[in-house]
Amino acid sequence: MVVNLANICNLVVQKSDRLNLKEKLDYMENNNTCWSMPRIGDQAPEFRAMTTHGKLNFPGDYAGKWKILFSHPADFTPVCTTEFIAFAKMQQEFEALNTQLVGLSVDSLSSHIDWVRNIQEKIEWEGNKNVEIGFPIIVDLSKTVSKLYGMIMPGEANNACVRAVFFIDPSDKIRAIIYYPLVLGRNFDEIKRVIIGLQTADAHDVALPANWEPGKDVVVHYPVTTAEAQERVKEEGLTCHEWYLCSKKL
Ligand code: BEZ
Repeated sequence: MVVNLANICNLVVQKSDRLNLKEKLDYMENNNTCWSMPRIGDQAPEFRAMTTHGKLNFPGDYAGKWKILFSHPADFTPVCTTEFIAFAKMQQEFEALNTQLVGLSVDSLSSHIDWVRNIQEKIEWEGNKNVEIGFPIIVDLSKTVSKLYGMIMPGEANNACVRAVFFIDPSDKIRAIIYYPLVLGRNFDEIKRVIIGLQTADAHDVALPANWEPGKDVVVHYPVTTAEAQERVKEEGLTCHEWYLCSKKL
């Protein structure tokens, strides 16, 4: 029998509105089928969890802030350890951008605590030592949050999260998602660039061209009528390469 996966997915997604979180996860487990992962533009799924900083109500505990929710495959692993040091070193820069970091893996609370103590006491990496991990790490032994956010990709690993990064704005909307595989550590300059880029696009109602970095020219939204196109090329303060590609300084 040929199964139409697209139809099954549609059915599941339609049904999902009427299910609570536990029912959704049970349904997914029991049917071993597709599930709607959070997408850009969706409201961040809500959950409660235990973390290394105590109980967390996400995203409610971070009202008015940007949030970076990220998963790592496992505590006490080499790439993850270097990533945690990189994130911890940049935490103040993220806080200056009104952005809160929240980590997650399917390890236990005691493992998380042991690992962050071990990093602070024993690890020296690229000249960084005694690094304190100042952000909370979610305990997700049940995989509830990992599944809710589509952080487990069975083709890559069945019992561990991939390196997912969700960028969530102050209105709790998911604005960007980046996934990395197990063997590749994240680029933290890019993660910071994404936050600054989204905040810049929001603040100035502009878009950002390839390889944009703070200080570089931005692009204005393209005209959607012929009249607008005609006006656009005459606008002061713009450099128009074509009617649909005009840049400006901020
Ligand atoms: C690491 O962090 O080094 C790692 C974790 C899981 C699989 C492969 C690498």
